[in-house]
Amino acid sequence: MVDILTDKRGWKDFPVEAVVLGVFEPKPDAMLNEINKLLEGAVEHIIKKKEFTGEFGQVRLIHTLKKLACEHILLVGLGKRDEFGLEQLRRVSGIVARTLRDNGIPRFATTLHNTITKKATLREQARAVAEGSILGAYQFTKYKTLNREKIKELKSVILLEAEKAAEEGAQAGKVIADAQCFVRDVVNEPASSRTPARLAEIALELRKLGIKVNVYDKAGIEKLGLNGLLAVSRGSAVEPRFIVLEYKKGAGHPVAIIGKGITFDSGGLDIKLPQFMEDMKSDVAGAAAVIGIMRAVAGLGLNAGVVGIIAATENMPGGNAYKPGDIIRAYNGKTIEVGNTDAEGRIILSDAIAYAEKNYKPKCIVDIATLTGACVVALGYAAAGLMCRDAALANRLRLAGEASGELVWELPMFEDYKDYIRSEVADVRNIPGNKGYEAGAIAGAWFLQNFVEKTPFAHIDIAGPAWSIERKNYWEKGATGFGVRLLVEFLRSVR
Ligand code: BES
Ligand code: ZN
Ligand code: ZN
Repeated sequence: MVDILTDKRGWKDFPVEAVVLGVFEPKPDAMLNEINKLLEGAVEHIIKKKEFTGEFGQVRLIHTLKKLACEHILLVGLGKRDEFGLEQLRRVSGIVARTLRDNGIPRFATTLHNTITKKATLREQARAVAEGSILGAYQFTKYKTLNREKIKELKSVILLEAEKAAEEGAQAGKVIADAQCFVRDVVNEPASSRTPARLAEIALELRKLGIKVNVYDKAGIEKLGLNGLLAVSRGSAVEPRFIVLEYKKGAGHPVAIIGKGITFDSGGLDIKLPQFMEDMKSDVAGAAAVIGIMRAVAGLGLNAGVVGIIAATENMPGGNAYKPGDIIRAYNGKTIEVGNTDAEGRIILSDAIAYAEKNYKPKCIVDIATLTGACVVALGYAAAGLMCRDAALANRLRLAGEASGELVWELPMFEDYKDYIRSEVADVRNIPGNKGYEAGAIAGAWFLQNFVEKTPFAHIDIAGPAWSIERKNYWEKGATGFGVRLLVEFLRSVR
């Protein structure tokens, strides 16, 4: 884990392995000239040959040869000043952390949290630097056994010239980013060693933080009548779990956050092709995010009531698997026709959503799920799909996305789409009845909407941004932990 520290001193006489200095485009001259003077002409060539332009993300490591208290200076390009906001700061911090880490520098000091002169507070900037640094330095090395001594790690980041606001922002950023790295660890874990039972154990560890955790095993799930969850789990050799986490500070009804916890999605009898199955351990990302959110909420001591609900199971094609054409009677009594066993997420979520509404009377219900490939087609990896018929709730989620850098983009919930999941033989069908894939993300959301009676409801489809195919900014290949920053920010805004 990376320590985030603060210090009131400035960079010029601060003894540390590296000091990070941000430089804007297109004229890095003033800063470079100053460094050149301090280093007695050592960066003359960089200035003359225009080797460093301040282009966003550009880095240049300079050895100070003991002419300053620090051993190195890392110059980092911030791009154009008027395009530089909190998310750019977060990204640059990620690039910095990884660059220094990879250069074998475990500790650095930075003033990047003082870069945005308008638009953002010191506290927000310090938070963004802490988040970007921790997320950028993340790596999943647990299963590497060879040359472990060569694995480099970032140990600490020091925010310089830091007053109280910066210190508080930095600590909040650490809580949130640590929670997000924890989510990445859960999602990156191979599915065979992170079964529903194991996921429940991970959730139970949150009791240490004062969170109430209730776990229902298969017998408990049967007793509750969560038949959708049971149906999906039938093809698997391992038992499902239903996990309920409660955090409460202050009065009032809670917000319910619901996570899709398919610990592995083979597609079931409608089995996936190999290229679509390989990364399907990531189908637990919504559930993992819910655990991470609860952890962050407790860590921050947020003044809110939150109930996190996770339906967890594998989706497998075993001999007892649920079948296309089956009809399931869900927790709320509605019947579901199974058109395709690979549209399993909405089936388990329908039970969790109805359970939340009935047992908690929440202010609102938000589910977070890697629900559809269709959402990846529509929005790619840059944003999650937001589907919500309550304009005020949708707006709050959109703003939380902008503030946290985890963007959501709204897809319409026009009434016409409701017909797409009509069934001839049951109350609803789990895939569109015509071609099966039209408006796939929205059809999924309308399916879920059937299981809410009157509570404001939002569905967030994270099939795209939950998993990164590249190492970039503060993302490492694999799980991103998407949803923690978004929903913690959202929960802060709920009154
Ligand atoms: N878990 C998948 C969705 C998914 C796809 C997540 C790609 C992450 C990346 C989901 O259970 C699924 O298989 N959905 C089907 C629905 C279809 C059968 C209506 C899909 O998107 O193809
Ligand atoms: Zn599926
Ligand atoms: Zn799935």
